[in-house]
Amino acid sequence: MNQDARYDAWSAGRHYENYMGRWSRRIADQFLKWLEPAPELDWLELGCGTGALSSALLSRAAPKSVVVTDLSSDFIEHTSRLISDPRVIFQIADAQKLPFEDACFDVAVSGLTLNFVLDKHLAISEMQRVVRPGGTIAFFVWDYPDGGMGLIDAFWKAATSLDPAASALDEARRFSFCTREGLIDLCRSAGLTEIETSAIETQTGFPDFETFWLPFTLGAGPAPGYCSSLSEDGLLALRNALGELVGTDGPITLPARAWVVKVRQPV
Ligand SMILES: C[S@@+](CC[C@H](N)C(=O)[O-])C[C@H]1O[C@@H](n2cnc3c(N)ncnc32)[C@H](O)[C@@H]1O
Repeated sequence: MNQDARYDAWSAGRHYENYMGRWSRRIADQFLKWLEPAPELDWLELGCGTGALSSALLSRAAPKSVVVTDLSSDFIEHTSRLISDPRVIFQIADAQKLPFEDACFDVAVSGLTLNFVLDKHLAISEMQRVVRPGGTIAFFVWDYPDGGMGLIDAFWKAATSLDPAASALDEARRFSFCTREGLIDLCRSAGLTEIETSAIETQTGFPDFETFWLPFTLGAGPAPGYCSSLSEDGLLALRNALGELVGTDGPITLPARAWVVKVRQPV
């Protein structure tokens, strides 16, 4: 395993939902509005997590069928319990080695996942392989490098102020390609053309610091995974450092900005 990914904890759906899924849902809705898909298409989703994008595309995109996949059996089990729809099939699958035939979907999508896949070029070429000519590949990722996902940005700023070694885990550094130019370069180098991008923004809001802090302690996701590795004193110090950064006196509102990318496959 890539050492920077050692705390990427993809299990405990309820806790992941509390940490990130609920914010991903907001972006997923806007992503589908931007995508403007035709109805009655065959969809593939990579890295479904707790189903933020799966739910959005079922309610917004009028799909004919959806194959919802993730590498984590725990997330597939969790999400398949939540979504019951005759158009959906759930399957454990690695985005780098999709267990599907060539050209069997109209659209391949993923939300907040591509950056976590070890070989992104392989994942993109797998999407190309399974999408029909004239079909669409589309995804979104947080704008990590510009601090666009405020809660993640604040977390790693606080963590690295206490533990310089944590800078290798900082998602702004790990996912430095998540800029408009970086994403276009990635797509081009994977052989894609006709690339469209846009920024989509929402907010994360918390009534108080306790509510903001809690999801970091629940173990699901990279920052919570890092928290799980700390001693009690280390965790307390991090909590205090984060409180100093975002404030502990009242509601906390932070930006949540994502890059969305869509690519039409040649006919
Ligand atoms: C940040 S979560 C995003 C989940 C969900 N799509 C969302 O928007 O909330 C990243 C997801 O990617 C999945 N993942 C990581 N590596 C993967 C791979 N190689 N193939 C498929 N899924 C992968 C994880 O299990 C996790 O569910």
